[in-house]
Amino acid sequence: MTAMHQIRLTTATGSCDIVVGEGLSKGLHQLDPAPILLVDEHVLDQHHELFEPFRTITIPSGEHHKTLQTVETVYRELVQLEADRSSLLVGVGGGLATDVAGYVASTFLRGVQFGFISSTLLGQVDASIGGKNGVNLDGYKNMVGTFRQPSFVWCDLALLGTLERKEYVSGIAEVIKYGAIRDREFLDYLQDQMTGLLKLNGEVLHHVVSTSVDIKVDVVRQDENESDLRRILNFGHTFGHAIERQMGVLHGEAVAVGMVLAARLSNTMGLLRPQEVDRIEQLIIAAGLPAAMELDPGKIYQNIRKDKKKSGKDIHFVLLDGPGNAMVKTIDLSALKSIVYDLC
Ligand SMILES: NC(=O)c1ccc[n+]([C@@H]2O[C@H](COP(=O)([O-])OP(=O)(O)OC[C@H]3O[C@@H](n4cnc5c(N)ncnc54)[C@H](O)[C@@H]3O)[C@@H](O)[C@H]2O)c1
Ligand SMILES: [Zn+2]
Repeated sequence: MTAMHQIRLTTATGSCDIVVGEGLSKGLHQLDPAPILLVDEHVLDQHHELFEPFRTITIPSGEHHKTLQTVETVYRELVQLEADRSSLLVGVGGGLATDVAGYVASTFLRGVQFGFISSTLLGQVDASIGGKNGVNLDGYKNMVGTFRQPSFVWCDLALLGTLERKEYVSGIAEVIKYGAIRDREFLDYLQDQMTGLLKLNGEVLHHVVSTSVDIKVDVVRQDENESDLRRILNFGHTFGHAIERQMGVLHGEAVAVGMVLAARLSNTMGLLRPQEVDRIEQLIIAAGLPAAMELDPGKIYQNIRKDKKKSGKDIHFVLLDGPGNAMVKTIDLSALKSIVYDLC
């Protein structure tokens, strides 16, 4: 086994050991008690040999399956497998499977032990870290859920090899986000090593996932409950979520465009120099992500408004105050409208 990176995240809702490395899934055999796996169906197909020896429950793939109905089905299968308070559940898959597994584990019998094996780039650098679990309701994302830390998260880099190209590239958007909001040196590294990252070079991948995890952990540690600091993780996401819904593209693709728009806005507000906006844009293009889309400003504005209704009150816009430095600016709806029309 190659190098392993370990970091512990301790918050009010528990303590989580996060490990990044290649081939970590083999460690399942050492767990005591023997785990019950909740595995994404595609991951089970692709990595049968790793997960077959265990009791497994399949989680259907596709965001439309991220529902209470799926949760209910999983509860029933757990009863059939005679799971009890002492059982250990391990969610295996991308953000969908780990979000569902975390929710099931925090509610079944009022909560049982659980861990994650994260199998997508987005999952490893983002979704599996931070203790948010949950499912969608009536098309509204993550409406029902819990805050609870898994006891461990294993980011097994070996699993990423079977991920669809588009999904992998989409995850790179979140990686670029971490550099942009928190770590200028990491931005430089990404600029130098993008080719290696796109080829899944082992060393580069290890550094990229480890650094991203460290940044997310650092932010969540200081602010578990999404007040100002944790909000910086939403850089590119105000526009990103609206674009994702309107254009039906992958999350990372929408966030990439959202980050370019937010960087431009940062420049308009006198916070970010034009060459720094260009640099972020170039990095996004080098990753094979879209840096622009033909957007209908009216629809984008309505979409952001709708999102706002759910979260309440003002819009918290994440801007860059220099590369590697994020700040949150609160803006009201009328200001938002002119911003959207100026940028789109
Ligand atoms: N909890 C959080 O803090 C948080 C943060 C961000 C996103 N999320 C959630 O994460 C989800 C998105 O996660 P995602 O991008 O990982 O998508 P996903 O879990 O839906 O996985 C994407 C696709 O890749 C397949 N797949 C997964 N691993 C694979 C592998 N190793 N080889 C081959 N195929 C594989 C899946 O079956 C699926 O088709 C959303 O539901 C989102 O709400 C949660
Ligand atoms: Zn995101």
